[in-house]
Amino acid sequence: MENSNIEQRIILITGGAGFIGSNFIEYLLKKYENYKIINFDKLTYAGNVNNLFFTAEHPNYTFFRGDITVEKDVENVFEQFNPEIVINFAAETHVDRSIVNPDKFLRTNVLGTQKLINQAQENKIERFIQISTDEVYGSVKPTALCTENSSLHPDNPYAASKAAADHCVIAAQNTYSLPINIIRSSNNFGPYQFPEKFVPLIINNLLQKEKIPLYGDGKSIRNWLFVKDFCRALDLVMHEAEAGEIYNVASDNFIENIELVKIILEKTKNDEQFINFVKERPGHDHCYSISYKKIKKELGWKPKMNFLTGLEQTIIWYQNHQNWLQEINSGLYQKMNEEITKNNLLES
Ligand SMILES: NC(=O)c1ccc[n+]([C@@H]2O[C@H](COP(=O)([O-])OP(=O)(O)OC[C@H]3O[C@@H](n4cnc5c(N)ncnc54)[C@H](O)[C@@H]3O)[C@@H](O)[C@H]2O)c1
Repeated sequence: MENSNIEQRIILITGGAGFIGSNFIEYLLKKYENYKIINFDKLTYAGNVNNLFFTAEHPNYTFFRGDITVEKDVENVFEQFNPEIVINFAAETHVDRSIVNPDKFLRTNVLGTQKLINQAQENKIERFIQISTDEVYGSVKPTALCTENSSLHPDNPYAASKAAADHCVIAAQNTYSLPINIIRSSNNFGPYQFPEKFVPLIINNLLQKEKIPLYGDGKSIRNWLFVKDFCRALDLVMHEAEAGEIYNVASDNFIENIELVKIILEKTKNDEQFINFVKERPGHDHCYSISYKKIKKELGWKPKMNFLTGLEQTIIWYQNHQNWLQEINSGLYQKMNEEITKNNLLES
């Protein structure tokens, strides 16, 4: 697909009111003035219209509230907008919640993805891009650097549902020649992330002078990627990848959870009394490790943001957006979700 600023494109983004989706919509609207973006989101607890203030009255942006698991909603959005490219971010994403309610994760992440695939195939779209995760490869040693050909060994219900969705997407390519890509990313961090996730949870708790829960001995390792680096990777995949290709995206920053907490404590001038060790969750993965060699070699992508700089910018963003956090902490954001979208429901 060509990458040109004059070219027009109609892009359906699902889950665009969540963390990465909203960052990507912001990125696209700034970079491509002729792209029409349709944000199709159910606004679950993880969706927040406050993440999208920059879209206000933007002529190329449309929001539709709808559910990827509801056939009629998906049919309607395809019928009304005729998208050429679909990027599926919509998902239940929090591992802890998947342990409590795995069915919900399978319904949204697998059956919802399949409903999108069905419509994408029927409408002969140009490209279907599935946003996936390093968790599909399961827990490995930091040196493992799983490639796109490594086998999938998901360990928790969230990871299992994402791996199943990847298989559905690959099956659609093999069976119906649907042109697809899958992008499997390590942990993103940055603005607009719901404060149940580790980085904003730490910052939010410290702002509230509350303790930071840390699983087990805190020695689990995660690889951290700044969300804008992820957006650049997805931009390249969307414009330059051959259909059928899967790409891992990650950084070189492998960090123990406890180290990450200590860095944030230091940067916010707090001390270690805020750390609260809690029991390991079942199925807790010690480490994910993926190689981004393929996307570097084929599409010329590599992460640009220095980890500590990205972390500093992220801390400052949350410190400067305490209203955004406050509206989540108080539940007000859900009332705003209802208010702003009450005339904007897909007919179903
Ligand atoms: N955040 C990360 O570090 C990370 C890493 C790798 C992969 N991913 C993947 O990236 C995608 C986005 O992650 P995120 O962190 O932005 O998630 P998020 O939880 O912040 O946002 C998910 C969005 O999906 C929407 N949604 C949920 N169920 C829906 C449904 N049935 N129909 C329509 N919309 C629905 C929610 O309202 C929300 O806006 C997910 O697919 C996730 O698996 C995330």
